Amino acid sequence: MNDKSIHATAAVRVPNFEAMLDPYPEYAALAAGGPVRVLKSHVGVTYYGIFDADLARQALRDPRVSKSAAAMQTALDRQGLEAASAGFPISSVKGSNLLNTDPPQHTRLRQLVNLSFSARRIELLREQVERLVAEVVDKLRGQDQVDLVSGFTYPIGLTMICNVLGVPSADRGEFRHLATQSMTPGAANQAECKGRLLQYLAGLVAAKREAIDPDVPPDEQPDVLSAMSASRLASDVLTDEELVSMSFLLLIAGHETTVGLIGNALILLDRHIDQRHRLIADASLLPKAVDEVARFDGPVHQTTMRATLEDVELGGTVIPAGNFVRVFLAHCNRDPKVYADPDRFDIGRAQAPNLAFGHGPHFCLGSFLAKLEAQTAIRRFLEAFPDYRLAGGGDAIEWAGTVVRAASRISASLSGRPT
Ligand code: HEM
Repeated sequence: MNDKSIHATAAVRVPNFEAMLDPYPEYAALAAGGPVRVLKSHVGVTYYGIFDADLARQALRDPRVSKSAAAMQTALDRQGLEAASAGFPISSVKGSNLLNTDPPQHTRLRQLVNLSFSARRIELLREQVERLVAEVVDKLRGQDQVDLVSGFTYPIGLTMICNVLGVPSADRGEFRHLATQSMTPGAANQAECKGRLLQYLAGLVAAKREAIDPDVPPDEQPDVLSAMSASRLASDVLTDEELVSMSFLLLIAGHETTVGLIGNALILLDRHIDQRHRLIADASLLPKAVDEVARFDGPVHQTTMRATLEDVELGGTVIPAGNFVRVFLAHCNRDPKVYADPDRFDIGRAQAPNLAFGHGPHFCLGSFLAKLEAQTAIRRFLEAFPDYRLAGGGDAIEWAGTVVRAASRISASLSGRPT
C-alpha cells in the first residue's frame, strides 16, 4: 500500500479548469499519474483529486469522507486557510444545510426538503418553465446577433430560482443584482452583496413564515420556500436559520449550474451540427441529448470539497485523516471502462448512469428541475432558431471563470448568418 501523506508528497498546482477552453486533456494528463493524486488548487487549497469512476462512487458513499462543517474546518485549519479565501461559499454561511452536514443530520434536512419537491410541485414547475421559456424565446424573435447568455440561458436560470424561492416580482431586479455580484469572484463588492443577499433571504423567510397557512400541506404552498417553511416530520420543522442557509444553497447550487447546462448544450449543438440535425429530426432524443451534454461537458466538473474523518484507503492510496478530497466528475464521465468512445459527443448513446449530478447522499436535489429546464429550453430554442450559429473566429465564448463550467457570453447569429 502506498501511504502518501500530504506533507510527504509535493502537490501538483492546477489551474482553474472551468475557465479553460478545453480542460479535458489536462484532466487526462493528471489521471495518467494515478487515480488518486495530491493537487493544489489555483486558490491554494491542497486536496486529493479522484480520477476514476469506480473510486469516485466509493468515495462519495463513504461515511468517513465527510461534508460536515466541523470536518471542513479541521482540514482548513491544518492548512492555515479561511473558508472564504479557499472559495467555499457555503461554509461561510451560518446554519446547517444539505451541503455542510453528514447523515443523520443531513438525512433529516433532506427528508424535510423532499416534502417540498412532490410530483404536484414538479407539475407546477413544468408549467412555469414552459411559460418562461416561451416568453424568453419571443423576446429574441426579430433579432439576429445576440449573446445567448444574457438573452436566453441566464434569464431562464435566474427566473426559475426566483420562482422556486417565491421572490416577489418587484424585488427581482435587486435580487438579480445581488445574486450576480455575490457569485462573481473578484467583484469589488462581492462580500457586501453576499451580506445583503443573506439579509434579503432572512427577510424573505420571515415573510413566508408569516404568510403560510399551517393547515395547507407543503405541496399546495405557492412556492418551494413556503413549502419548506410548512414542512413537518412529526413535530420537527426547519428553523429560520436553516431556511436561510437552504435558500442560499438553492440559489448558488441551482442558478449558474442550470445556465451552464443550457449554454453548454447550445455550444455542443453548434460544434456538432450532425447531432443538432439528428435532434431536430427526432425530438424524442431530447432527454438522452441532455444527459449526453451533462456527461460530455456538464456544468459541474468537480464535486464540492469533502474531508477525511480518519485514514481512508482508496485504490491503494491512503488519504490521511483531516485532508480534503474532491472528485473530478467531468473526467470520470469520460472513463473508457464505462463509456465506449468516451470523447465522442453522441446524443443517441445508450446512457450508463453518469456522475454529472454527483452520487450518494449528496446527489443533486435539483437534477429533475435542471433537466426539465434544459429540455424545454433546447426544444423551444431549436424550434425557433434551427439554423443558429455561434460567432466565428474562436472568440464566441467567454467562460465565467467561477467554480461552474458555464459561459458568461456566447455570441451567436440566430439566423445562422456568418458574422
Ligand atoms: C445542470 C444543473 C445542475 C448540476 C450539474 C448540478 C450538480 C450537482 C452536483 C454534482 C451535486 C453534488 C455536489 C457534491 O456532492 O459535492 C449537487 C448537489 C446539489 N444540488 Fe445540484 N446541480 C444542478 C442544478 C441544481 C438545481 C436547479 C438545484 C435546485 C433547485 C440544485 C440543488 C442542489 C442541492 C441542494 C444540492 C445538495 C444536495 C445534498 O447535499 O443533499 N442543483 N448538484
